[in-house]
Amino acid sequence: MPPRWQPVEVTLAPPVRGEDLALAAALGIAVAGARDPSGWQLVRTVRGTIALHSPAAMGDLGIELDPGSGALGRRLRGCRRDDPLARAIGLPQRQEPPSVFDATAGLARDAMVLAQLGCRVTGCERVPAFVLLVRAALAGTRLAERLQVEAGDAAERLRQLADAAAPDVVYLDPMFDDAGSAQVKKEMQVCRALAAPPDDAAALLQLARGIARQRVVVKRHPHLAPLADGVSFRIDGNRVRFDVYLTAPAATPPR
Ligand SMILES: C[S@@+](CC[C@H](N)C(=O)[O-])C[C@H]1O[C@@H](n2cnc3c(N)ncnc32)[C@H](O)[C@@H]1O
Repeated sequence: MPPRWQPVEVTLAPPVRGEDLALAAALGIAVAGARDPSGWQLVRTVRGTIALHSPAAMGDLGIELDPGSGALGRRLRGCRRDDPLARAIGLPQRQEPPSVFDATAGLARDAMVLAQLGCRVTGCERVPAFVLLVRAALAGTRLAERLQVEAGDAAERLRQLADAAAPDVVYLDPMFDDAGSAQVKKEMQVCRALAAPPDDAAALLQLARGIARQRVVVKRHPHLAPLADGVSFRIDGNRVRFDVYLTAPAATPPR
């Protein structure tokens, strides 16, 4: 049984802009009087992005989220409608991209890919510092027209989604993958430190299956069993697998 998630304190360090203060207040993130290398802090960089700095004792785990550059920028520029993630949510068969509720948004990289491919995406994330990072990264970008990320618990949020607001797809990524590039490893270490593996993934899946209009997609390690019985089909990706649970008859063949 994974440990129950406990929030870790992250503060916003000076210098801060007016919009940072408003965002921090909305998300319940305290504003520090000074830089504090012993704690987790969100810091404006000279490039204008916001970076998350780890306590010095943990080494350099600082991360920046920038949809316009680096690995994330390359991923967004290179994503295609027939990529495994896009196929898993059913994009290629549809004229209109589906609406997606990303219940475990994290740093919202998958959510950004889906928004880049035309989906309207609502992300939910319970670590407020991640929500601040994502919102700051999206500010002023075209992606922000299709992607918004809310702070909160996905189970609560899913229960609040009335029929009219039910998404076509619910996406769950409870995976903490430490494979891949050094940058991915760093981001995953930060996720592990601040988020802890989801303790409620199977319950979220059950809830989501009663809500999604078309399907629930779960990202899994290739060697792990599905989170629950009833997988309709799976799509194998690069180092990951997507288990698809159809919740409504597909008008066209699902793959
Ligand atoms: C592996 S990360 C997701 C990474 C994400 N797909 C991306 O592309 O950046 C899983 C995230 O789910 C969040 N999470 C887990 N359970 C949650 C819940 N019940 N409600 C909201 N967020 C949750 C964790 O805080 C963590 O940030």
